[in-house]
Amino acid sequence: MILILLGAPGSGKGTQAKRLTEKLGLTHLSTGDILREAVKAGTDLGNKAKGFMNSGELVPDDLIIDMITAKMEENAAGAGFMLDGFPRNLAQAERLSEIFEKKNLVIDQVIYLNAPEAELVKRLSGRFYCPQCNAGYNYPMHLPKNEGVCDNEGEKLLRRPDDEEDVVQKRLSVYREQTSPLEEYYRSQGNLVEIDANTSPDQVTEEIISSVSKVKTA
Ligand code: AP5
Repeated sequence: MILILLGAPGSGKGTQAKRLTEKLGLTHLSTGDILREAVKAGTDLGNKAKGFMNSGELVPDDLIIDMITAKMEENAAGAGFMLDGFPRNLAQAERLSEIFEKKNLVIDQVIYLNAPEAELVKRLSGRFYCPQCNAGYNYPMHLPKNEGVCDNEGEKLLRRPDDEEDVVQKRLSVYREQTSPLEEYYRSQGNLVEIDANTSPDQVTEEIISSVSKVKTA
């Protein structure tokens, strides 16, 4: 099964992907997570990507396509993929479609998580994570037991550099200009499912599972 999670920054792609890949037995491929790991490790890819990410711009398509193709090859033996944060513009969507055509693969569903911008900004400004175990927290929805400190590791919680207010505004405008055309692109292909992401994480998960179960039984 191949699922794509599409949605603006803060719409809940990462949160839902983590819950769903466990339930569905799929491999979670998040281009954002792979890039952040590369930046942390100081690899060539990470060094090339860092500036784009910290300013809220998209990383160049060729770097992303090579990176995601390699990850898909590595995980080809599994039950399928949940792509989170990829594709991100029409050029990437077209390249993905060519890759899948050659491998005789099809996209089962594109799950579009839709939430208003004011809610997205609120979520991103409240997001913190542990640099040691990557656990996520959100003020005021999901607080650690001790303020500013990870429950698991006791580490000081950090914010992603691209969650600073000005970078969030840039990421939202990049989404509007470059990524949102994918909503229509996949809708016209008949495999886009729109989910109201302005509800609780549990409710969003339920709706996605109900939608995906229709693919499984189709
Ligand atoms: P990426 O990591 O993909 O960032 P993003 O798309 O901006 O998404 P986020 O991770 O910020 O949000 P999300 O939708 O995953 O929401 P989350 O679940 O975390 O990309 C980062 C950068 O990498 C890009 O800017 C670009 O530079 C580069 N990049 C990545 N992919 C690329 C590509 N394909 N091409 C080129 N460049 C690429 O939730 C956010 C917060 O909200 C959390 O705190 C969470 O707890 C909370 N939350 C989630 N759901 C709910 C809910 N239902 N109610 C209340 N709170 C909620």
